[in-house]
Amino acid sequence: MRPHNLTTRIFLDGGDPAQTRRVIGALGFLDGQTTNPTLIAKNPEAAARLAKGLRFTPDEILDFYREVVTEISGLIPDGSVSIEVYADKNTSAGRMLAEAGRFFSWIANAHVKFPVTKAGLEAAGRAMAEGLRVNMTLCFTQEQAAAVYAATRGARRGDVFVSPFVGRLDDRGENGMDLIAGVARMFAGSDGHVELLSASVRTMEHFLYSLALGADIVTAPGSLLMQWAADGLPVPGADYAYPAGALRKIAYRELSLDKPLEEYDIAHELTVAGMERFSADWNALIKR
Ligand code: G3P
Repeated sequence: MRPHNLTTRIFLDGGDPAQTRRVIGALGFLDGQTTNPTLIAKNPEAAARLAKGLRFTPDEILDFYREVVTEISGLIPDGSVSIEVYADKNTSAGRMLAEAGRFFSWIANAHVKFPVTKAGLEAAGRAMAEGLRVNMTLCFTQEQAAAVYAATRGARRGDVFVSPFVGRLDDRGENGMDLIAGVARMFAGSDGHVELLSASVRTMEHFLYSLALGADIVTAPGSLLMQWAADGLPVPGADYAYPAGALRKIAYRELSLDKPLEEYDIAHELTVAGMERFSADWNALIKR
């Protein structure tokens, strides 16, 4: 059962409906799920197929992704299911948007994932005009989160998530949780139309500190959610002491949320690297 003092929505980060069932069984609730190409490649059925040297045709892989998210959507009909577009450095906003339209025909509770790039932000702005919902992924700076805010001004609360990736900043020695704290602080005085989704959460400390910071949403791997359930679903208070160890601090920046979109510096090498990895994992599923 949902703890009474839990304000953050809890999502599962995964691509296997059987795992979604297990997590719902253990937690007694689940508010949503995030998927991405890497997680779909790890789905047991996809992985078994690849292990046999069998790949998917482009149509088959989309059918497979549709079947997976349709099953997940049926398990959490009142929640949100994030589905990620194919995006490499050459993918246009138009192509991302066309794919997003297709995802929305699959399930009623989709959020479409676009990267925080020039094309992804353009796609997000156009998606808002079409009444779609977005989850802006591969966010590594406070300024990228501010750009998401600018690109989606006027959107309804609930229609836009931004996903800063904690673990991948930690991987290079920076304290990824400082970015969650910074984005939460930056958005505290905003109109609230962008919700903060703590992503690339790898440890129980990432997860608990996301709750303590009051992130709107946290997405976490199944193993971590099962452990949280086994621990009795603890919800730490604002005084939670996060063990940052030797990770380098990411300083908070005073940024205006009122500037035109073009004035935000959105470049980040981890966004580029993340797109490369997601597109490579997706392409590895497909027969050439
Ligand atoms: O939530 C985003 C996530 O799937 C990426 O996690 O561990 O690959 O950085 P990770």
